[in-house]
Amino acid sequence: MLSNKLQDALNQQINDEYYSSYLYQAMVAYLEDLNLDGCAHWMKMQAEEEHLHALKLFDYVVERGGRVELFAIAQPAKEWDSPRAAFEAALDHEKVMTENISKLADLAITERDHATNNLLQWYVSEQVEEEATVDDILKKLDMMGDTGTGLFLMDRELKNRPTPTPIDQAGA
Ligand code: FEO
Repeated sequence: MLSNKLQDALNQQINDEYYSSYLYQAMVAYLEDLNLDGCAHWMKMQAEEEHLHALKLFDYVVERGGRVELFAIAQPAKEWDSPRAAFEAALDHEKVMTENISKLADLAITERDHATNNLLQWYVSEQVEEEATVDDILKKLDMMGDTGTGLFLMDRELKNRPTPTPIDQAGA
C-alpha cells in the first residue's frame, strides 16, 4: 500500500507528465505554424511519449491500491523566439522533470517503499535519455546552423522519429 505522502507525490507527477505532453503539443502547434513538419513531428512523438509516462504512473498507483487524482493542467506557452528556442525550452523542461523524479525517488526511499523506488529508477533512466536526445539536437543545430539550410536539414532528419511503443505495465 502506498503511503498518503507518496500517493500525493505520484499524483502530482502524473499531472507533471500530462503537462509535459501538453507543453510539447503547444510546441507542435508553434512548429506547424512555421511549416517545420519534421520538427513538429518530433515534438508530437515527444508529446505521445509523455502521455505514456503519465499512464505508466497511473497504472502503477492503481496496481498498488492507491487512488489516482487528476489535477488541472496548466496552460503552456504559445510562442517561442525561434525553433531553437523551443528545443532549448524542451531541454530546460526535462531538467526540471529530472529533478522532480529525483525528489520522488528520495521520498520513496524515505518512506521505505522499494517497489516505488524501483519503478522510479525506470524514469531516472528515461530522463537521462531524454535530456541527451534534446541536447544532441541542439548541438547539431549549433554545427549546421539553426536557420536556413541547417534548420531545413534538421527538419528533414526529425521527420524520421518513430512512434513511441507502448510502455510495459506498471513496474515493468
Ligand atoms: Fe516524462 Fe520527459 O518527462
